[in-house]
Amino acid sequence: MKEQLEQIRLQALAAMDGANDAAELDALRVKFLGKKGELTAMLKQMGKLSPEERPIMGQVANSVRADLEAKLEERKSALDAAAMDAKLKAEKLDVTIPGNPVKLGYKHPMNKALDEAVEIFINMGFTILEGPEIELADYNFTRLNTEENHPARDHSDTFYITEDDSVLLRTQTSPMQIRAMDEMKPPIRVLAPGRVFRKDEVDATHSPMFHQIEGLVVDEGITMADLKGTLELLVKKLYGEDSVIRLRPHHFPFTEPSCEVDIQCFKCHGEGCSTCKGEGWIELLGAGMVHPKVLEGCGIDPDKYSGFAFGIGLERMAMRRFQISDLRLIFENDIRFLSQF
Ligand code: DAH
Repeated sequence: MKEQLEQIRLQALAAMDGANDAAELDALRVKFLGKKGELTAMLKQMGKLSPEERPIMGQVANSVRADLEAKLEERKSALDAAAMDAKLKAEKLDVTIPGNPVKLGYKHPMNKALDEAVEIFINMGFTILEGPEIELADYNFTRLNTEENHPARDHSDTFYITEDDSVLLRTQTSPMQIRAMDEMKPPIRVLAPGRVFRKDEVDATHSPMFHQIEGLVVDEGITMADLKGTLELLVKKLYGEDSVIRLRPHHFPFTEPSCEVDIQCFKCHGEGCSTCKGEGWIELLGAGMVHPKVLEGCGIDPDKYSGFAFGIGLERMAMRRFQISDLRLIFENDIRFLSQF
């Protein structure tokens, strides 16, 4: 029996030494020390021994068990350490390898142009206003002195939202003039940038959605000279100190007198070239002195107060500012285009 015990000891220790992983080791633990294991089987036979032999064999069996348990422990630690080592090697992270750079976005040229304009007007004491893109026809047309049969109201030009044509997608930012004058008392100095919508087919210079910047100043003694001075300052800041503008008579229902403002072509300085289509001048915006009827309709006394207003096409401004030749580029958001600004 002693020999058998010694054999189990040798066999088990050798097997444990050769175990390659925790599962194999555990199988060996069951094989030798488990309830149905070889050593346990031996111990069960102890009863058959003589009283003299029993303590001696008991001692041997205990020492075998202790050896096996110690070996199990030792191998388990070794295997665990090896496993951890392998895992660490596999997951090794070299923090000195340069990372993949994150591509930063760019500010859209429209936002750049808008930011520049807003900054200039804020420095002149203007307040920035925002208003709804879904607007009342009353604000978009009627209170801006636009007659019932005015062509701009036509269904072929304007997106109406309701059957009775009382609600629409604003066709201009000018209704912000009404909203400002309803809310504020003179002196008023506001700038209202935003989206506007018209039923236009998309081409190099048209889009059914575009942006305008509306400006409105109302106070005592405001004249056309204030309008000209303000716009001159804007273009000089935007396009350079040598920029020249001209005011050309025009008609808008909500201003009297009205004008369109052109900037002298920065390429040919008025001679006429391909950039200005031979004109020497490039149209920038519409403007004028706020019509007395519009002031009155907002509860502002036209005998005491006067005002000027203007509406700038933001796309046109951005295209000129960044020399973009096709309006569609602005809305397509092709990253190759956007990353140039
Ligand atoms: N709202 C006009 C348009 O869309 C532009 C405009 C003209 C705005 C004259 C004004 C103005 O404030 O006074 O064509």
